Amino acid sequence: MALALLRLFSFLVLLPILAAAQTVGNVTVGASLSAVENSSWISPSGDFAFGFNQLNNKDLFLLAIWYNKIPEKTIVWYANGERPAPRGSRLLLTADRGFVLTSPQGEQLWNTETINGVVRSGVLDDTGNLMLRGSNSILWESFKNPADTMLPSQKLDKGVALSSRQSDSNFTEGRFRMVLQSDGNLVLTTINLPSDHFNEPYYKSDTAGDFNSSSPGFQVVFNESGYLFVLRENEERFLLTTTITGSAKNFYYRATLNFDGIFSLYSHPKASTGNSRWTTVWSNPDNICTASLVTASSGVCGFNSICSLNAERRPNCGCPRGYTLVDPNDQYGSCKPNFTQSCEEEPAPVEDLYDFEVLTNVDWPLADYALLEPFTEEKCRESCLHDCMCAVAIFRLGDRCWKKKLPLSNGRVDPSLDGAKALLKVRKGDPPPLGPYFPNQEMKKKNQESLILALLVILGSSVIFNCIFVAAICLGFYFIYQKKLKTLPQFEGVVGTNLRSFTYKELVYATNEFKEELGRGAFGIVYKGALDMSSSSPVAVKRLNTMVHDTEKEFKTEVNVIGQTHHKNLVRLLGFCDDGDNRLLVYEYLSNGTLASFLFGDSRPSWSQRTQIAFGIARGLLYLHEECSTQIIHCDIKPQNILLDEHYNAKISDFGLAKLLLLNQSHTNTAIRGTKGYVAPEWFRNLPITVKIDVYSFGVVLLELTCCRRSVDRNCDLEERAILTDWAYDCYREGILDALVENDTDALNDRGKVERFVQVAIWCIQEDPSLRPTMRKATQMLEGVVEVPIPPCPYTTTVKFSL
Ligand SMILES: *[C@@H]1O[C@H](CO)[C@@H](O)[C@H](O)[C@H]1NC(C)=O
Ligand SMILES: *[C@@H]1O[C@H](CO)[C@@H](O)[C@H](O)[C@H]1NC(C)=O
Ligand SMILES: *[C@@H]1O[C@H](CO)[C@@H](O)[C@H](O)[C@H]1NC(C)=O
Ligand SMILES: *[C@@H]1O[C@H](CO)[C@@H](O)[C@H](O)[C@H]1NC(C)=O
Ligand SMILES: *[C@@H]1O[C@H](CO)[C@@H](O)[C@H](O)[C@H]1NC(C)=O
Ligand SMILES: *[C@@H]1O[C@H](CO)[C@@H](O)[C@H](O)[C@H]1NC(C)=O
Repeated sequence: MALALLRLFSFLVLLPILAAAQTVGNVTVGASLSAVENSSWISPSGDFAFGFNQLNNKDLFLLAIWYNKIPEKTIVWYANGERPAPRGSRLLLTADRGFVLTSPQGEQLWNTETINGVVRSGVLDDTGNLMLRGSNSILWESFKNPADTMLPSQKLDKGVALSSRQSDSNFTEGRFRMVLQSDGNLVLTTINLPSDHFNEPYYKSDTAGDFNSSSPGFQVVFNESGYLFVLRENEERFLLTTTITGSAKNFYYRATLNFDGIFSLYSHPKASTGNSRWTTVWSNPDNICTASLVTASSGVCGFNSICSLNAERRPNCGCPRGYTLVDPNDQYGSCKPNFTQSCEEEPAPVEDLYDFEVLTNVDWPLADYALLEPFTEEKCRESCLHDCMCAVAIFRLGDRCWKKKLPLSNGRVDPSLDGAKALLKVRKGDPPPLGPYFPNQEMKKKNQESLILALLVILGSSVIFNCIFVAAICLGFYFIYQKKLKTLPQFEGVVGTNLRSFTYKELVYATNEFKEELGRGAFGIVYKGALDMSSSSPVAVKRLNTMVHDTEKEFKTEVNVIGQTHHKNLVRLLGFCDDGDNRLLVYEYLSNGTLASFLFGDSRPSWSQRTQIAFGIARGLLYLHEECSTQIIHCDIKPQNILLDEHYNAKISDFGLAKLLLLNQSHTNTAIRGTKGYVAPEWFRNLPITVKIDVYSFGVVLLELTCCRRSVDRNCDLEERAILTDWAYDCYREGILDALVENDTDALNDRGKVERFVQVAIWCIQEDPSLRPTMRKATQMLEGVVEVPIPPCPYTTTVKFSL
């Protein structure tokens, strides 16, 4: 106490020199903070801080509230997004105007407007609410003046909006709003900046009152346990979130309207270990690209852009071929055609000038100016080609042709269009397609060196910025890669994916006549290759064993399914060859080999590497089971099928092949599928094969990762240890988990996680498939988002899995 007083005292007295000092609790009128590094006030518990947050290592600061105890200082409220404060700006608590932020030149950057009364003190409480107190009332609070985030115990009254930011690192006001309207409906919508015009919402809670019974929404509440609901006037609740996992005692929560328009509820374990992070618990809407349709604006993305969902169900915006970003730094902005199409006399016949880029299941719904029917695709093409107004024609439903004009709005990928074809008119002379949805096509024109240099310079900035740019880099390298790919002659895309079709000859050449073998598996032999011999862009070419009972169509269908998967924990399929008897798949090449050689090799990987790999495999499987458009059961999860990239990220390989190879074959043919030691018991019992078969194998791999040994080890000194699953359960039951990680100091020091991993693994290897968790549940348990119940003995079937 005395110390605190002393600190407060010295803070006030020595203000000019010690501007960066921190104080806890109440702030009195006259107190101030300077915009320099580490300048903040902390809430009594230390969970939250209020003060200056440096932007991108520039000499600019954001006045903000953030979660202060976790490594990723997450901003939950900010004041001066539009006008960042230069170094040396000053925040002063005044009696009449509350907080006032002024630049070193004396310019006022922000203040707490509308103060009715005399301010006595300022308080940052442990819920993260910053309040200004008068003698007996609260005059202003950040909870009633939110930015883009709600915190537990915060309530939004009617008319108070959450506003998205411009991007993860740019706090200027963005285009998305969440607000409880006066009719009681909670809506998510875009607005037309710089005006306040609200467009048609892309989400509506339907909680307006009606004449019958239901009572209108009155407040949006984020309660202390992390539930979000619309409270109706009659106190009934309309729950937005469905499940909350983990207790508020152990988790931080926040609900943020992201810069891309998705409203998400996140949780973060309070006890931070090195790699804990915010996990999405719930988000809305499911598909923003198709949920949004506006008449007087561009939609989720800019004009002429196409919205597609990524693996995290977040929108990606991209320009179609022949179009480039108006602002190259704003990926979510509008695209412009990089050719001029005019109705003036053209120098040559239109056939020589224009070509069509065909996109499947893409539409710009409200840009029509003509509908032609009945019409054939050929006539539709012709008609658009010769019509100088026509920018794109959509051919759908077998005989209808919609012609559309610029600017195109509401662009989206919509699988429910059932194979609609968008015939996009582009000027000839452009290079072959990169694949439909790649933003920022300009980048590929720059040469490799300048791109890398630019990215390195950008990388010099802050952490948040880095995250965004890591994504950009991946994209950048992808372009470079594509550029190389392009040098190959004659390829044609498979409709709807970015897969390339290779001729057999090309792959013979690419692999130097199948010279360097990388490995062999159930499906065939894998060779190293290079698509461009003069460069270092290696690929892995898998030559499939001859397949029985399958037609070309089935092969294409399956390859297409694989080609549509995009996840950082899956090996990317780049292309394929379907040339008579020769069927080959071309994958990205991963430099660090298989998990088997890493895990069972000479240098044992560290505990933290192993846990990261486990999380990676879990997320990859979760994606295959639940998040990609067609559910994929792997059927052969084992360390030999997990590859590692240069950063030792786990990537699952060979997924989707089970179906390819097993078309019309009995699954009991174990000579082909399933590897001893990893195969779930139902495999041998002729029971239906479900995703739970992968959960079982994952459990085994998880034990191998935890214990750093093979699941079956015949050379074991002690016989009871030979079968890992049995031994692990014995150790667990007897409470001697340390035996499983002998001599592994890191793991021994992280007993909590070891126990969690073993428990999850035991759940996964339950004999009864219905007792095994789904991969989603398994992932959440692994990450500690939900509690792990005590697992039953894997070999009895008496206890029901009750999560
Ligand atoms: C902060 O101020 C309020 C009223 O101004 C008072 O009730 C409270 O006890 C103060 N807290 C501390 C820690 O001084
Ligand atoms: C701010 O705090 C961090 C970590 O507490 C420290 O590494 C850094 O040197 C501090 N910066 C200044 C300018 O005090
Ligand atoms: C944020 O974006 C706006 C609009 O695009 C731009 O004017 C501003 O300079 C950006 N601010 C920062 C700090 O990058
Ligand atoms: C009132 O309820 C009836 C029957 O439940 C329904 O048909 C009608 O549409 C409702 N009226 C309104 C305004 O919702
Ligand atoms: C929060 O809301 C949920 C759902 O209505 C309820 O089950 C829970 O008890 C509430 N928690 C608190 C602390 O009010
Ligand atoms: C349009 O862009 C492509 C690359 O996307 C480029 O090759 C072509 O030259 C550009 N055309 C014009 C007229 O700028």
